[in-house]
Amino acid sequence: MAASLLNSRIQRIRCTVFNMAQKIITAKDGYKELDYWLNRNSVKNLLLVCDRSIEFHKELNNHLAKVRDSGINIVRFSGFVPNPQYESVVAGVDVFINSGCDSIFAVGGGSAIDVAKCIKLYSNMDRSRSYLTQEIVPNDIPFIVMPTTAGSGSEATRYAVIYLGDEKQSITSESIIPGTVILDHNCLKTLPPYQKKSTMMDALSHAVESFWSVNSNEESKEYARLAISGVLSNMDGYLANTDEGNHGMLLAAHKASQAINITQTTAGHAMCYKITSHLGLAHGHAAILCNRVLYPWMVQNTDKCIDARGEAYLKDTLNELASMFGYKDVLEGSYCLENIFSKLDLEIPQVSDKEIDVLKNSVNPVRLKNHPVKLDVDTIEILYRRILTTD
Ligand SMILES: [Fe+2]
Repeated sequence: MAASLLNSRIQRIRCTVFNMAQKIITAKDGYKELDYWLNRNSVKNLLLVCDRSIEFHKELNNHLAKVRDSGINIVRFSGFVPNPQYESVVAGVDVFINSGCDSIFAVGGGSAIDVAKCIKLYSNMDRSRSYLTQEIVPNDIPFIVMPTTAGSGSEATRYAVIYLGDEKQSITSESIIPGTVILDHNCLKTLPPYQKKSTMMDALSHAVESFWSVNSNEESKEYARLAISGVLSNMDGYLANTDEGNHGMLLAAHKASQAINITQTTAGHAMCYKITSHLGLAHGHAAILCNRVLYPWMVQNTDKCIDARGEAYLKDTLNELASMFGYKDVLEGSYCLENIFSKLDLEIPQVSDKEIDVLKNSVNPVRLKNHPVKLDVDTIEILYRRILTTD
């Protein structure tokens, strides 16, 4: 593996079990379903992995106080930051083991959920060696999550991302898919508008990229269709912070993450990671910046199709995608993401030629293989110049 190209390593997991269906519950009746989960799993000592956003959720905090009163010990772990470091996960595993925890509840955005996933995965491994180099044996530690943004999709996928220094670590295992997910729209009410917009654009990017991915199948496409229609029909209510809009967007984001759990993401995500780390833009903001340009470029370059199902299949997929956004004409439809992006009033950063060089050399070629249209380095440079404003 060319580390300079990938700047990442992939910990592949041999996994034989845990391909079970995920249970989705809502917080409509207070948190009764959480109580059922605690009872069903005979929880005595719960590790609560959460970021600071939990402090805004009065109802959940009140309920957790009642859980404590009922005799269940809750150990909080918040020792991590966005784009979490491996060392934070090690600290979390130590807390889990040293406190005698028997189950995990993650509350937060993608980073909190990814940290919790890794704590679960590493908690039955050899503590004297790096977890990253060990073969992982799946475990059945009860694991429930409550996403507090509608976008990351981490609650539904077998992937987790952490960092060893600057090096991205992609961890994959069926064993880290949470058994139960609580969708509580109240979590979205206190999010800053920029975070709401960018996470929604992350969800939409997941759905669109999954739909055109070379790994798509009928199941993933159906999840993506539901996600796209859910994002479009709930966008106004979500941005206006209505209960219905927030709930609908949570469901749509969850469907999008079910879609990428099958297909993984494509060029939009491969190209957006460096925009986030180098320019400091939120992940979903960077993803939609890229996809709004990639989409029309793809429609005009289907002759470079690398999907094994052929160019005609790709054209059908792009036609259907345009119609989902309400367009009869496929080229006109390919600007739908640009139109949505413009309405959200998100920034287009200005960069130098030197920064374009940094970006074009940062793209993970493995992820580009999921993209249905071939992209070479020269094309990636041209696209970055369209995605961003240059001096
Ligand atoms: Fe994403």
